[in-house]
Amino acid sequence: MSFDLAARLAARRAENLYRQRPLLQSPQGPQVVVDGQPLLAFCNNDYLGLANHPQVIEAWRAGAAKWGVGGGASHLVIGHSTPHHALEEALADLTGRPRALLFTTGYMANLGAVTALVGQGDTVLEDRLNHASLLDAGLLSGARFNRYLHNDSTSLAKRLEKATGNTLVVTDGVFSMDGDIADLPALARETRAKGAWLMVDDAHGFGPLGAQGGGSVEHFGLSQEDVPVLVGTLGKAFGTAGAFVAGSEELIESLIQFARPYIYTTSQPPALACATLKSLELLRSEHWRREHLQALIRQFRQGAEQIGLELMDSFTPIQPIMIGDAGRAVRLSQMLRERGLMVSAIRPPTVPAGSARLRVTLTASHSEAQVQLLLEGLADCHERLGPEPGHA
Ligand SMILES: Cc1ncc(COP(=O)(O)O)c(C=O)c1O
Repeated sequence: MSFDLAARLAARRAENLYRQRPLLQSPQGPQVVVDGQPLLAFCNNDYLGLANHPQVIEAWRAGAAKWGVGGGASHLVIGHSTPHHALEEALADLTGRPRALLFTTGYMANLGAVTALVGQGDTVLEDRLNHASLLDAGLLSGARFNRYLHNDSTSLAKRLEKATGNTLVVTDGVFSMDGDIADLPALARETRAKGAWLMVDDAHGFGPLGAQGGGSVEHFGLSQEDVPVLVGTLGKAFGTAGAFVAGSEELIESLIQFARPYIYTTSQPPALACATLKSLELLRSEHWRREHLQALIRQFRQGAEQIGLELMDSFTPIQPIMIGDAGRAVRLSQMLRERGLMVSAIRPPTVPAGSARLRVTLTASHSEAQVQLLLEGLADCHERLGPEPGHA
């Protein structure tokens, strides 16, 4: 018996699926230094450009001076401090829900919410392109687990017919690797009709979407009855770290009692909550960030279509370029990098086999001139790479 790790690693390499971590040697922003090379980057999720904002950094500093840096204990022991509580109240206000509960990461929020709500004898139904944390949560819950076709409320309705026990329908609000937005009104209608609950993970919707940055639920004007369980993460448009679940008083109290990833972990640093309170204020009030971002998205889509790139059905800052073959996607990403542009290639198993892509993300910190540079780089590299074998 041996763990043949070398063979597993070699196989991964041979399939062009080997993952590597670029070393970031600067703060997040359009201009970064990675592995010693200055690059113009289009691959972080800092959609509103708040991760390195001076006021957010100052709030962190002041918070650390006042509250120290360590959470010190779990929320249920003595780790639930005043900034955590204030942030929960501000997030409840943003989402229009009675309460919100802070988690240390989005992965933990999803794991906590799903496993606290369903178990053996229940059913969990998920979009087949949901984020891995949601799929893992469904599998770990012990409930009957089934996936419906991507963003297809008819496929969901068929599965709801056969569901038993408490039934939780789970979807990304904005799909993380495709950038499209879930048809939440239709999903909510089907779910409510069967007395099930809809849980939306809007990690990529909060910030860019909705008049006040309240995400896809605000975009569609959906109520708590439509979406009883609403998840947001703080490491993307909020520019900090952590996550939250928003919902009714009973939901939040149940999570405090039963969500193991909430109970058995140290609270996030209180200074982080201070920083997030500031970024939340900027996210809600500085509308120009959303407007500028929308203008860049339009500019990018128009330019990419002219080049003949295959875009996806997305009006969000996630603008993937479909490539197909993993090796080709990696090659294109490398060619761009040689030109000083950083765009990540996303490959299976993160996305389905044969659908490798370049995941372009735009942020409010980018300028029109920088998007133009990206378009010029894409046009040049796309032409040099030539057509895919078998395609005209
Ligand atoms: C849709 C979605 N949900 C959850 C997560 C996990 O959040 P976190 O990074 O805070 O663990 C991510 C990505 O990180 C995501 O894209």
